[in-house]
Amino acid sequence: MPILLDLQSLSFPAANVAVFQREAPLVLEVGFGDGGFLTSVAQAHPEWNFIGADVAHASAARAFKRVRRAGLSNVRLYHGSGLFLLRNLFCDGSLYRVYVNFPDPWYKKRHASRRLLQASFFELLSARLELGGKLLLTTDSEPYFRQALILAHSSGYYRVTETTPPSAALRTKYATKWSAAGRNFYHAAAQKHAGHPSQIPPQIRKELGMHHALLNGSIPAVTEFDKVIHHFADGHLVVLDVMRMIGQEGLVFIVRSHEPELEQELFIQLRPARRAQADLLLSVMNLGKPLATRGSSEAVRAVCHWLTQRGLTLCGTYY
Ligand SMILES: C[S@@+](CC[C@H](N)C(=O)[O-])C[C@H]1O[C@@H](n2cnc3c(N)ncnc32)[C@H](O)[C@@H]1O
Repeated sequence: MPILLDLQSLSFPAANVAVFQREAPLVLEVGFGDGGFLTSVAQAHPEWNFIGADVAHASAARAFKRVRRAGLSNVRLYHGSGLFLLRNLFCDGSLYRVYVNFPDPWYKKRHASRRLLQASFFELLSARLELGGKLLLTTDSEPYFRQALILAHSSGYYRVTETTPPSAALRTKYATKWSAAGRNFYHAAAQKHAGHPSQIPPQIRKELGMHHALLNGSIPAVTEFDKVIHHFADGHLVVLDVMRMIGQEGLVFIVRSHEPELEQELFIQLRPARRAQADLLLSVMNLGKPLATRGSSEAVRAVCHWLTQRGLTLCGTYY
């Protein structure tokens, strides 16, 4: 069973059954940390489907090992933002529960906009939760907790109930850490009782084929490289570097693209075209399983622009 969520194989939004090959209540945990909570709830509820998201590489690596050790087939992990999944992956009315345990509190006033639980979060969540579905929040930060409850309540989509935290939420890594420091804990359920009136469609358009281009000319010699910054609607990218391939003719461009809640590292190769319509093929390598989005399209466009400035001519584009 795959543990990592394979976004390349899914459409946006994707049906629950396309991810798990079965219909079952769908549960999301945003910020799973070391994966201890996710693993224990998934063990306790084999009849539910779980997706966990965490932006930290170390968290993803630890949780992966835990889920693998536990032999769970009802969990998929995503190394990236839970907001990205909420916006793009989940269908409206598809989520049964969302867990958020000890979200980063961002105490400083100037960092408050980095908090996960904003008014826009509650609005988006109200579209993706099923009627009666719940957000379960546990935290040690009373100011954040109070602010989140006000936002949930004032959105008009939730019935908010404050209770003592369930024992499972008090066994997470951060719960253990803050318990040792003598902190108090706060817990609430925000249950959806009304839906968002207008649709909130996916923001990232995922395309079926990966972007590429055909060029005529010869592979340029690269002695130095100045990074290229390219802006596009809703995002930007940086062509960071270019390298010559060893043992074969070709160049590889390293690109970092930034789209809403999605950061991708793209490796774009230029090499002799196997078929004779053109001299060279510029294509996105499948390293790191990139998604074909506006970002990858713009990355191919930016590299094409760089190459045409060095005398190559474009003779076919797919971007
Ligand atoms: C304070 S830790 C809590 C971890 C865990 N829930 C626990 O209780 O031990 C917050 C976690 O949220 C993750 N995180 C922050 N923003 C996120 C986002 N937008 N999507 C997914 N994870 C996020 C961080 O990487 C971190 O692992």
